[in-house]
Amino acid sequence: MAKAIRIHDYGGPEALVLDDVEIGAPGAGEALVRHTAVGLNFIDTYHRSGLYKLPQLPHTLGVEGAGIIEAVGDGVTDFAPGDRIAYGSGIGSYCELRVMDASRLVKLPDEVSDEQAAAMMLQGMTARYLVRRTHRIEAGETVLIHAAAGGVGLIFCQWAKHLGATVIGTVSSDEKAALAQKHGCDHTIVYTRENFVERVAELTGGAGVPVVYDSVGQDTWEGSLDCLQPLGLMVSFGNASGPAPAFTVLDLMRHGSLFVTRPVLAHHIGTREDLVETVDDLFAVVASGAVKIEVNQRYDLAEAEQAHRDLEARRTTGSTILIP
Ligand SMILES: NC(=O)c1ccc[n+]([C@@H]2O[C@H](COP(=O)([O-])OP(=O)(O)OC[C@H]3O[C@@H](n4cnc5c(N)ncnc54)[C@H](OP(=O)(O)O)[C@@H]3O)[C@@H](O)[C@H]2O)c1
Repeated sequence: MAKAIRIHDYGGPEALVLDDVEIGAPGAGEALVRHTAVGLNFIDTYHRSGLYKLPQLPHTLGVEGAGIIEAVGDGVTDFAPGDRIAYGSGIGSYCELRVMDASRLVKLPDEVSDEQAAAMMLQGMTARYLVRRTHRIEAGETVLIHAAAGGVGLIFCQWAKHLGATVIGTVSSDEKAALAQKHGCDHTIVYTRENFVERVAELTGGAGVPVVYDSVGQDTWEGSLDCLQPLGLMVSFGNASGPAPAFTVLDLMRHGSLFVTRPVLAHHIGTREDLVETVDDLFAVVASGAVKIEVNQRYDLAEAEQAHRDLEARRTTGSTILIP
């Protein structure tokens, strides 16, 4: 038996329940993992609320964790008991112990701690595909990212800066603005009191930006389109304020022959080769010091409900972990 935070029905943070669950032995291709740290991500709130449906209920929440392998099933040759591992795509991580597909795991190098890994696997791999695949950021470009002081935001700002971009970031408070600036954000806009479209126009001499990274969704969609240069790229990758509204293809013409994409991490690490390439890149920028992982909130696993409340109330910055 192991402790796990599950939902029995979709709902608010109060839907999170601490349960005792039975853990079986790992089957073929699987590993038994004991978590030392679990990552908290905004997607966990979508799974909890039902915006993203789970395969069945009750279900353990969470998609990211780090820990130690206790046992492996038949056919697993890349991992052995005692290995330090982490993952950023495997629903069911809010628990002490779990069985999971071993092909989703990566070994941790000595210089990456368990807490860092649990804090960065999902958000860091997301930042990586945003800056290297969705749009390959070139030195000298100016890019806009919303929620710049969040988990993905702080990693993104540092990485984009490292690649030579000028980063404009929106945040909801002066404290978050200072934090984003400390992590490579050249210009911050407090979008709760400033008009971010006007500020981006000022900062770019009226030209607009070639790419907007928008994870806020509903509240920023329209303004984000207005920040783009003709032929610019709108990257809608999240729904923190609610899903982005429906639009017509003609809207893209009116806003300047825009491109739009709605990427998700799973499609960027679907093969073992893609996962390894992505993680290698992430570990390299962290090991070099170009990207620092900020674990700014820690909760006991049993306090997951409070962690969800704080995340949704915009009280967190950087990354958050749960300790089983
Ligand atoms: N598509 C993908 O592959 C992928 C992968 C990872 C994450 N994401 C998305 O990226 C975003 C960031 O994820 P994260 O885990 O790093 O979270 P986070 O950025 O640490 O937290 C979300 C932030 O969104 C901002 N926000 C704006 N309006 C909000 C509202 N109405 N309610 C709550 N927050 C609001 C807040 O920053 P301010 O207070 O500064 O506004 C808040 O801190 C999420 O939308 C997530 O779904 C997408």
